[in-house]
Amino acid sequence: MSAEREPIGVIGVGWVGLVTAACFAELGHRVVARDIVAEKVEALSRGETTIHEPGLGELVRRNAERLTFTTEMDELLDVARILFVCVDTPPTRSGDADLSRVRSVIEELREDGDHVLAMKSTVPAGTGEAIRRDMPQLAYVSCPEFLKEGSAVEDFMQPDRVVIGADPGDESAGDAVAAIYEPLGGEIVRTDVASAEMIKLASNAFLATKISFVNEIANVCEEVGADVGEVARGMGLDQRIGPSFLRAGIGYGGSCFPKDVSALKMLAGNTGYHFQLLNAVIEVNELQKRRVVQKLRGHLGSLAGRRVVLLGLAFKPQTDDMREASSLVLAARLQGEGAEVVAYDPVATEVARDQLPGVEFYDSAMGALDGADAAVLVTEWPEFAELDWVAAVGRMARPLIVDGRNFLDPETLRAAGFEYEGIGRAGQGAPSTAAAD
Ligand code: UDX
Repeated sequence: MSAEREPIGVIGVGWVGLVTAACFAELGHRVVARDIVAEKVEALSRGETTIHEPGLGELVRRNAERLTFTTEMDELLDVARILFVCVDTPPTRSGDADLSRVRSVIEELREDGDHVLAMKSTVPAGTGEAIRRDMPQLAYVSCPEFLKEGSAVEDFMQPDRVVIGADPGDESAGDAVAAIYEPLGGEIVRTDVASAEMIKLASNAFLATKISFVNEIANVCEEVGADVGEVARGMGLDQRIGPSFLRAGIGYGGSCFPKDVSALKMLAGNTGYHFQLLNAVIEVNELQKRRVVQKLRGHLGSLAGRRVVLLGLAFKPQTDDMREASSLVLAARLQGEGAEVVAYDPVATEVARDQLPGVEFYDSAMGALDGADAAVLVTEWPEFAELDWVAAVGRMARPLIVDGRNFLDPETLRAAGFEYEGIGRAGQGAPSTAAAD
């Protein structure tokens, strides 16, 4: 077997683990993927994917011969030399990253000799060095993950860059991990472990900063009558700025940005450094969701007894992931104002149901809009652009929409008879808290 086709172990079959395992199998490797949740392993062994990610189910089924799932660590250790650790590192109550799952994997490998541990889980800078000190027999490589949910398979197969961190003594382990990624053609950044760990945290924090920045610009646009879409377009053409992640809206969510921004802030704080900028990034993101409530009050006055529809619940389209979704805060805030909250999402309803107590769910957008006093577009699912908005006007008690993603065409909506308001879009005036009725 050639070096680049050696069997690979993947530990933790969540989003990152499953995409990584399936894509390595697609590249021709034999992959043994291990998870401690038996039901997940059984479902995957039957070819049933546990998450909604475009193209992933097909990849798992197509590579069934090369891709096996197990609950037993020994099954990996017997066949694979390189082990990709993909367990989650959720935030703790203190805002630091919870490394307990990483630690239990490390404990399981304690007795083990000749393996390369490739860390894909997002860990604070310094974690790799501590593991390496504790387990000198393991070769350690930091290989952070940059996948976006909803396009994870594509991102994996066509990476902008692959970051591989290895410290002196582990260079050949770094070479082995690099060889696995080489066929993908993205630039491979070879560096030390601490820098690789920081690249991941800094990249996510920077992207989150871009979003909070453009959201603040949007809020100022509302005050001065400018259009944030135009402003972002004009800014983005400057190659030093770039056009991506300048979409204003109701803030970022998901499993990575909120957690990683907080983890970086805490990591800095734990060393005695006060990362002021990230405090603002987090605060702007929190307040941005709440501005929607202010906008609704500007139109409706009191929200008590008003029927408000959330169009979309997932933290972004093409996923059923509800982690840190803006809809969670929004629904609770609206309920706090006494509103009756109803919702529709094309795929996230089942995941969302338990997390949104008191919310009434519909299986179509039009059904949810029936009799509503207002709608808030929370997730930019393509089907909302295709909706028959003229028909929707007739169904709603008051055709008012706050477009939290600047996704819909204001002219079309206004022509259909809607009161339309986006985030920082021209022609809508400043938000007001004054009662409109
Ligand atoms: C992110 C990173 O992009 C990825 O590199 C990392 O590995 C994991 O975290 P993901 O969480 O899947 O990926 O979603 P992403 O597409 O980056 O969007 C994150 C959030 O930011 C979403 O809520 C999205 O709606 C929001 N967003 C994104 C904006 O509000 N404006 C933008 O311009 C871009």
